[in-house]
Amino acid sequence: MKALVAPSYGPIDQLTIAELAKPAPGPGQILIKLRAAALNPLDVKLATGVMREMMPVSHPFVLGLDAAGTVEAVGEGVTRFTPGDEVVAFTHPVAGAVAEYTLALDGPEVVARPDGLDPVDAAALPVAAMTAAGIVEQAGLNSGDSLLVVGATGGVGSFVVQLAAQAGVRVVATAPPSDADYMRGLGAAATVDYTSGDTTEEALRHVPGGVDVAVDLINAGPALAGTAAAVKTGGLLISPAGGPPVFDREVRASYAHIEATNGLLQRIVEATASGRLRVEVSARFPFAEAQRAVVEFAGKHTRGKVVITF
Ligand SMILES: NC(=O)c1ccc[n+]([C@@H]2O[C@H](COP(=O)([O-])OP(=O)(O)OC[C@H]3O[C@@H](n4cnc5c(N)ncnc54)[C@H](OP(=O)(O)O)[C@@H]3O)[C@@H](O)[C@H]2O)c1
Repeated sequence: MKALVAPSYGPIDQLTIAELAKPAPGPGQILIKLRAAALNPLDVKLATGVMREMMPVSHPFVLGLDAAGTVEAVGEGVTRFTPGDEVVAFTHPVAGAVAEYTLALDGPEVVARPDGLDPVDAAALPVAAMTAAGIVEQAGLNSGDSLLVVGATGGVGSFVVQLAAQAGVRVVATAPPSDADYMRGLGAAATVDYTSGDTTEEALRHVPGGVDVAVDLINAGPALAGTAAAVKTGGLLISPAGGPPVFDREVRASYAHIEATNGLLQRIVEATASGRLRVEVSARFPFAEAQRAVVEFAGKHTRGKVVITF
């Protein structure tokens, strides 16, 4: 089969489509023939090696964590799916999804794709929407509370904005002027332009005294202090990267990561199929152009998700 691979750690211009052996599903695994795969920043981080200390990979490394496709075969003990079923899957760390075939674990990481949800939209969901749902749960916000989302226009952010707004939270979202209407359409009450002003000052202008919770999907480490300054005393800052556990004010910090808890992907898929959750796919590339897709994803402004089709 063909797959988008990094032959070694290094720049993404060395990514290439290579011929690899078609994987065989082991016990508890599902072999999926791809229809669509979405890109995530982690693909770039794993391929280039910036995360090699924390998350080493073996080479050739097949990119991709998010898949939508057709079950081709199942391994021993798998009873939920049979060949021909349409599924949505989070494939990491079992196998890469930007390939003609991938593997996933028979668990909460794989769910049936409803007829009303097309494969491109389905592939855009697992990593971004599951991470967002975990963040919103961690935030513990009530109706009427305020939330600042830094990095709101991307994959995770666009779902955080929607899920929080649907819970009655007043969301302040970062967005360039060209994305302000998009953010409001997802439920943001206000936007702050990170391309021309100071995000913290602008957020404080919208919520004097500071927001109850800030989610920062962009900064890491000490750079999170700027966002913490937009949080009210006693409030919470959530980031999927790392940073100091405390800031120079009384602001708690919590670090989020993706977790495929039982039933979560199922709920996300159902909410999207029924129109309650919107998924924005801003660019699609045929598999033959997968390397260009990653380069553009890493270098250009991304609204929502970028998906590769097969
Ligand atoms: N730990 C985990 O389990 C986990 C899971 C999922 C994601 N993550 C991490 O979470 C982060 C976000 O992921 P994602 O999938 O949402 O990424 P993404 O789709 O690339 O979205 C990032 C968005 O933020 C915008 N942006 C860039 N710089 C900004 C700034 N200074 N202020 C405000 N917005 C800015 C980007 O647009 P422009 O660059 O064009 O401005 C883009 O729209 C990544 O670092 C990812 O690795 C971690």
